[in-house]
Parts: sequence; C-alpha cells; structure tokens
Amino acid sequence: MSVAPDLACAAEVVRARGLAIGSPLEVLDETSSTNDVAKRAAKLGAPHGAVWVADAQTAGRGRQGRAWTAARGEALLVSVLLRPTCAASRLPPVSLVCGLAARDAVARAVAPGVDVRLKWPNDVLVDGRKVAGVLVEAMVAGSRVEGLIVGVGVNVHTRAFPPELARIATSIALHAGDRQPDRASLLADLLEGLARDVELVASRGLGLVHARLAAADALDGSRVRADTGEEGTASGIDLEGRLTVRRDDGAVVRWSAGEVHLVPPPGA
Ligand code: BTN
Repeated sequence: MSVAPDLACAAEVVRARGLAIGSPLEVLDETSSTNDVAKRAAKLGAPHGAVWVADAQTAGRGRQGRAWTAARGEALLVSVLLRPTCAASRLPPVSLVCGLAARDAVARAVAPGVDVRLKWPNDVLVDGRKVAGVLVEAMVAGSRVEGLIVGVGVNVHTRAFPPELARIATSIALHAGDRQPDRASLLADLLEGLARDVELVASRGLGLVHARLAAADALDGSRVRADTGEEGTASGIDLEGRLTVRRDDGAVVRWSAGEVHLVPPPGA
C-alpha cells in the first residue's frame, strides 16, 4: 500500500515553511502508533522537532487508555518529539497549549466563520463535535523533562462516521466549504503553532497565550461533570492550566486532570 498523495508530500511542504521544528520528518505507510515510534526514537536520542506521520495506525492510542481509530488515509496521525527546556511542573500548561496549536491548525483548514474550540484539556471541537484529540506523553527524569511526545489525531477526510460516533465526531471535510483539505498543509500549520507556543509556555508560562485560550474555551459557562461525579459550571482556565469550576454551593474548585463531561441542560 502506498501513502496517499496529500500526505506523501509532507516533508517538502513542511521544509518549505522553514520552521524551527519538523526535521527529520518520516512519513510511514502504516505503524502501530506514531507515539510509540516517537518514544522509541526519543530513547535512542532523536532530536527536538523530529516528526513521525502515518497514513494508518493499527494500535492508535488516545487519552485515558482509550483506542484511537481512523480509516487508512482519512486522518492526520502525527507525533512530534519536543525537548523543551522546562521543569516537570510546567507540563500541564505545556500540554494544554499543544491542544491550542491543534485548534488553531484546524481553524485554518475549515471554512471561515466555522466555530472551532478547545475542550479542556485538549480536545478540538467543531460545532461541538470532536474533530481532533491530543495525547501528550512526557519522559521525565526527576524534575527535568527529557522529552515530550505530542501525538495528534485529526479527522480530515472522513465524511461518514459509524452510528456510535456520528453524534459526537466530525471532520475537517464536513466543514471545509469549497476548500480541499490536505494533510500536509494541516501538518505544517500544526507544527508552526507548536513551534510558536510550546517554548513560549515552557519558558514563561501560560500568561502570554491566556487570552487566546480563553477565547477558544469550549466549556466556559457550561455545566460540567468530572469522572469523580463532582459537578458545577466551568468558569475558565487558570494560569496553571487547570479548569476552574464553580460548584452549586458557591465554592470555586480547580480540576487539574481527568475527563470532563458536558451535562446537557434539563429537557435537552
Ligand atoms: C484523544 O483524544 O484521546 C487523543 C488521541 C490522540 C491520537 C493520536 S493519533 C497519532 C498519535 N498516535 C497515537 O497512538 N495516538 C496519537
């Protein structure tokens, strides 16, 4: 099987942008999981900015131990190795900003005016449905970050989802208007965003990107529930990258990890 043309040209398209990351870039026909390939290479000393992208994965992984599946040729499946100079305590805001970079890349690929948001911590939603997810895996030695594998999956060409996903998933193709989505340009946009934001947040924290984060926040003002059962109204993301939630008893709590579920309004 050969790699589809919109991905086969990824190395040339990325090189032409002259980015600080994106080299070396390996395009794989099929692999188990690009995150696993990246992790192995990182242990063998692969450099900051190296990229692995695949046309198909046989064991794609998502957050919370979930599987990530995509039909061959339909999704952008990529892992980027970053070696930011920061302490492990900066990892939550750094991994959050990876989601923001994915959100910005998707926003450039869809038709103008389409609503693209970030659902804390790093799902990308188009009109409320998931179009992309980010799995950040850190390699840490003591308090030092040795490497960060940023794995991103974006539904690009898919036009029909299986019934169990149809209400919650979407793709760039379904929102691209008269544009023709292509994975190489999407990848270059993603890398551009990561190159811009990750080092910034690693060295200076979330402050400089906080306004963009707030503008993209899919949860602000919504009723949310954590896996622990705790509920409340989401009221922004703080400078540590935590979700701020106002409980019904008025207490303001901050959630730092886990999955957040939107609670539908009564009668919906
Ligand atoms: C999620 O939403 O749960 C995160 C999904 C991340 C999927 C991507 S696809 C490329 C990379 N390789 C993997 O095995 N996972 C990530």
